[in-house]
Amino acid sequence: MTQISPNAGSPAGLSFFEDMHPPAADFRADILAGLSKPQKALPPKYYYDEEGSRLFDAITEQPEYYVTGTELELLKSVGGDLRALAGKGALVLEPGAGSSVKIRTLLDALDAPSGYVGMDISGDHVRSACEALAADYPGLEVGALCHDFTQSLDIDALPLSDATRAGRRIVFFPGSTIGNFELIDALGLLKTLRGWLRAGDALLIGTDMRKAASTLEAAYDDAAGVTAAFNLNLVARINRELDGTLDPDALEYRAFWNPYRSRVEMYLVALHDMAFEVAGQRFMIRQNETIHMENSHKFTVDTFADLAAKAGLERRKSWVSDGEAFSMHWLEPAAKAC
Ligand code: AVI
Repeated sequence: MTQISPNAGSPAGLSFFEDMHPPAADFRADILAGLSKPQKALPPKYYYDEEGSRLFDAITEQPEYYVTGTELELLKSVGGDLRALAGKGALVLEPGAGSSVKIRTLLDALDAPSGYVGMDISGDHVRSACEALAADYPGLEVGALCHDFTQSLDIDALPLSDATRAGRRIVFFPGSTIGNFELIDALGLLKTLRGWLRAGDALLIGTDMRKAASTLEAAYDDAAGVTAAFNLNLVARINRELDGTLDPDALEYRAFWNPYRSRVEMYLVALHDMAFEVAGQRFMIRQNETIHMENSHKFTVDTFADLAAKAGLERRKSWVSDGEAFSMHWLEPAAKAC
């Protein structure tokens, strides 16, 4: 179990900042393992270096990518419900903290929240987002963790004041990030997040919904090419950090809706045969061979509630956007896990 203590001289306005970044060796091992599979694959968690985080923010502003805007509108429209459900003095925990806009909308809706802890795999990103939040919410105790939220974390060990620690915990997991996990891993993550909750605490989670293939494929392959650049940035990162020689100009980005698995699948396709090296290892990719980059699963309210129930989380309330594009769920620990 990781012990966390406040860093000496915490940065501007934060109660604490702790860098728990996974070691560089993980990146090397994971990339080499992914490129060695019969279906080459790159783990999407490595998208988010500084440039990747910037590109992801740019994706959320593309007209085709309805996900962020729709969720934000939904969140704004259910503020009264959230305030009533959360009660006074809540402590908000945000794994994968990225969009400062959504967390502000939630904090503004709540009744005198006591604390906020943002966690993200990109340390610079989470630290600057949390510093900005601390500056704008002077009464709020704010901490930041550079952390891979799929790894264990002892919430009780966070260096928060007793008053903040006593608040109802609300784990805020917006953006339908849960959809980027294989279903078995999504279940594992829901169980991990369930483990952060005590009786009466809650998980507030956003999930994208099934819809027309044309809408989904446009959202994941925008006309301006930002999503393509986001994917190719991981190739640039591999070349830079692992002495790679994979030519990004010889790879084309493609996204398609797989209705049988209820997910958008994203790939890089080789335009011609290529031999390349990464971290001293040699690889070969054939013309039209694909590198699997990411999946984005889409749910109905019921398919998601079923998954959550398997993780010991009971759906207390769901909200669905106009046109049934996006949904949010308030889940509480079930009295008895299935
Ligand atoms: C982070 N996640 C919810 C995004 C999604 O919609 O699945 C990641 C993404 N990949 C390409 N575009 C967006």
